[in-house]
Amino acid sequence: MESIYGDHYDKLMAFKDSLKEKIDEMEKTIEAVYETNIIDHTMVRIKSAESVLKKCANKGIVPTPDNIVSNVHDVIGIRVVCTFLDDTFKVRDAVRGFTDIKIVEEKDYITKAKSNGYRSYHMIVRNEDGYYAEIQIRTISMDMWAALEHDIKYKKDIKVNKELITAELKRCADELASTDISMQTIRNMIYGHM
Ligand code: GTP
Ligand code: MG
Repeated sequence: MESIYGDHYDKLMAFKDSLKEKIDEMEKTIEAVYETNIIDHTMVRIKSAESVLKKCANKGIVPTPDNIVSNVHDVIGIRVVCTFLDDTFKVRDAVRGFTDIKIVEEKDYITKAKSNGYRSYHMIVRNEDGYYAEIQIRTISMDMWAALEHDIKYKKDIKVNKELITAELKRCADELASTDISMQTIRNMIYGHM
């Protein structure tokens, strides 16, 4: 089958698999150190042709395989979902220590949430062959919010007041953020700071 990624497809898949392996290995190492669950789950995906084409159109890029792999930096997407707030930063620190990849960009939407309430830690990484991947690190509650907000955003036929939905989503994001902090405080009370 012809892929939108052309001859890059196999190397992209290999990079995606190697990142997943590194993260799984890191999870085992960290969880052995702290003797508790740090990562709830990790999801990996390759961007669909449809989303790639949409993004290229938005960015004004001609969607050739070469253009795609060098300009669309989330062709490989990895999402690491952690149990507690502090664990997201443990994962970030571990990713910073990965060999064979360079961190190209980091965005801390956890410390400073987006105005709509979105929270996550984003890292763009590049391997030695020049392929990019986006790693998103978040807690279970941040993940729940992002999934819901994403679904709602793409629902075309919303009949109810849009401003009300935006405000309610923001309120939920703030409540979830506050609960993440409370849960972290409770864990610290039980285990001490980890
Ligand atoms: P794009 O990938 O083109 O959006 O680039 P960007 O420069 O805006 O990157 P950013 O790091 O802000 O977002 C990258 C990815 O994070 C997006 O593709 C989404 O998967 C996720 N994301 C960012 N903002 C939001 C948001 O407000 N809601 C949700 N649900 N996801 C978001
Ligand atoms: Mg994106």
